[in-house]
Amino acid sequence: MTEVAHSNSLPPSALIFDSGVGAISIAREIRRLLPGLTLHFGIDNSFYPYGSRSEEELRPRIVEQAGAMMRASGADILVVGCNTASTLALPQLRKVLDRPVVGVVPAVKPAAAASRAGTIALIATEGTVNRNYTRDLIRQYGNGCRVINVPAPELVRLAEAKLRGETITARDLEPVLARIFHTAGGDRVDIAVLACTHFPLLREELDRYAPRRIQWVDSGAAIARRVSWWLDELKLAQPDKPGASRLLTSAVDEDRKILGAFAEFDPSPLNTV
Ligand code: DGL
Repeated sequence: MTEVAHSNSLPPSALIFDSGVGAISIAREIRRLLPGLTLHFGIDNSFYPYGSRSEEELRPRIVEQAGAMMRASGADILVVGCNTASTLALPQLRKVLDRPVVGVVPAVKPAAAASRAGTIALIATEGTVNRNYTRDLIRQYGNGCRVINVPAPELVRLAEAKLRGETITARDLEPVLARIFHTAGGDRVDIAVLACTHFPLLREELDRYAPRRIQWVDSGAAIARRVSWWLDELKLAQPDKPGASRLLTSAVDEDRKILGAFAEFDPSPLNTV
């Protein structure tokens, strides 16, 4: 699709969809590249966490919820800022929406191409690790590397906690780090793919508490470049002044701490969709 009707009275905007604060890691990259773009955060927090839900319940939910949030926001582009959702529902979203849909693909290709040891770790939700989509990606772009799959649902919870002001300790990360480094072949891992958008939010801590230095790669910058490509394609110039932001949720957090988690983007008050 190349033609998108855009209301001239509204500045160009993208909606970043996720189950929670993972949208922030994607938004930071988009802001860096496209500071004038208005960002809508579409957070399906009443269905969080996505990673442990079945494909049967998650697929229709994502299509329905992302669709409702796109309609409510009037955004020009949908960014599925969630690997669990992207590896499951991109074709369906593209079928029902009349706007461009940008998805997050686990960064297996660049990681496998850059690994000197020929061993990478793929850290993700259980859903993403077990998807056919991910298996096909490894088969196609694994470059002959050994790929150690590391399901890490606790990192999702820890990222949510960190963005709500909690401190993440070495002890919190110990079990995940053991599943990367102290497993068969783990001594050879030189690159880890952060294949859940929540995980780049913990990069500093993962790096600090890992038993040795490795590279942690994610897809955020590539997503931002893709959004920029779509803006050009749609002939939507971003304004010179800093873009606004707005937070849409599917459930109002009881203590409203979710607003605090997104504070760096100074979003306008909560709307529930
Ligand atoms: N941020 C999401 C991802 O990239 C998933 C978090 C969740 O389990 O809800 O996969």
